[in-house]
Amino acid sequence: MDKIVIDGLCPLKGKVKVSGAKNSSLPLIAACLISPSKFILKNIPRVIDVHTMIKLLVALGSKIEWLSEDTLSIDSTNVKKWRAPYQMVSKMRASVCVLGPLLTRFKKAEVSYPGGCIIGTRPIDLHLKGLMRLGADIQLKDGYVVANAKELNGASIYLAGNFGSTVLGTANIMMASVFAKGDTTIEGAACEPEVVDLGNLLIKMGAKIQGLGSPTITVTGVKELHGAEHTIISDRIEAGTYLISGIISRGEVEVEDIDPKLLTVFIDKLIECGVEVTYTGRGIKVKAGKDLKSLEITTLPYPGFPTDLQAQMTAFLTTVPGISFIHEKIYPDRFMHVAELLRMGAKIMREGPTTMIQGGELKGAPVMASDLRASAALVLAGLAAKGRTEVNRVYHIDRGYPKIDEKLASLGAKIKRVKE
Ligand code: EPU
Repeated sequence: MDKIVIDGLCPLKGKVKVSGAKNSSLPLIAACLISPSKFILKNIPRVIDVHTMIKLLVALGSKIEWLSEDTLSIDSTNVKKWRAPYQMVSKMRASVCVLGPLLTRFKKAEVSYPGGCIIGTRPIDLHLKGLMRLGADIQLKDGYVVANAKELNGASIYLAGNFGSTVLGTANIMMASVFAKGDTTIEGAACEPEVVDLGNLLIKMGAKIQGLGSPTITVTGVKELHGAEHTIISDRIEAGTYLISGIISRGEVEVEDIDPKLLTVFIDKLIECGVEVTYTGRGIKVKAGKDLKSLEITTLPYPGFPTDLQAQMTAFLTTVPGISFIHEKIYPDRFMHVAELLRMGAKIMREGPTTMIQGGELKGAPVMASDLRASAALVLAGLAAKGRTEVNRVYHIDRGYPKIDEKLASLGAKIKRVKE
């Protein structure tokens, strides 16, 4: 597997364009299974997770081709299968978001039950509860979720759990209810912009949906949907990661093509820390101020601080004087980056879902990427570390960041990808 080698302590400077959101692209590609129609999706990032979702749709019978660097044509006219096999779902948990579309279209679906992953057990009980409320019979057979429904009927569904709302659960229930008879009301719905993006595609396809972006979403069943053309929103997590690359290297970085409203709480925390933030019209620019202050951060569902930026923010805070705290409220075990950051000289103590970080200096070291965001955190740490950092097993970072080494190099980072 490739590794990324970084020589640190080089302040980054310049502009970087944000790609389309991975976490929008995956459910939106899955949504194209609902109707036997043709779709054009623009601003799709070329990352491994997207390629995996494309392979899954092709295995089910969709015809898919890239029309340009970031535009996909998807033809789901001849989809005849409704089984998502273990070999595919085990590669990527987000494959579970074909469950809703397949059940909607065929009134049956078989999807391999996704296992846990490095960031936690990640159950899908809420997805299944929602589908059962719509009238589906759900059985677990040979490791597969087997869903059948004579018909789907609108229902009132409370979809939040112990850790708050569920993003892909809300996506699955929205997609499963587009043809259900009557109204489906999802209470405790996820408010994430990626869920709004999915709702907007479904509306373009002819669905009737109200309340997107709020905790109460109402879907009124329709008889059929049709094809549509849609541009995916920009990736707020990628944008946040590049903004951190600017401040962790004590440089000045502008991210382009991102709506600052998608990052309100993140930007609020940067300002509290002493970072100079400027809105440029096309995006956001940051410059690390001279007196940075430690922070206390709690991750929460949108519009709270995103868990998907927790690891990267941890890396930054290891370089900020004083003691910072991070409370992880979405995935209490999402701390795989901590042990690797310790190898770089970071001072971090973990107690359950909370870390205490004492700011200081980082030193380059060989480290191991374990999941997508942890890998990004290690690359960021490498930018701020004295000497050379080797981030091994970068497969994980390629799952969600298009060409991260090239984008950072364009900002002046001393970074290279080494094939192994
Ligand atoms: N949860 C349950 N039961 C369920 C579903 C979720 O208890 O049926 C719990 C989860 O274990 C977690 C919390 O609810 O504690 C929130 O999980 P959620 O369902 O919202 O996560 P997800 O939809 O599976 C998406 C993103 C994740 C992101 C989370 C939270 C995609 C493809 N994935 O996952 O992204 O961390 O929402 O915002 O959209 C990443 O990009 O690195 C990533 C992990």
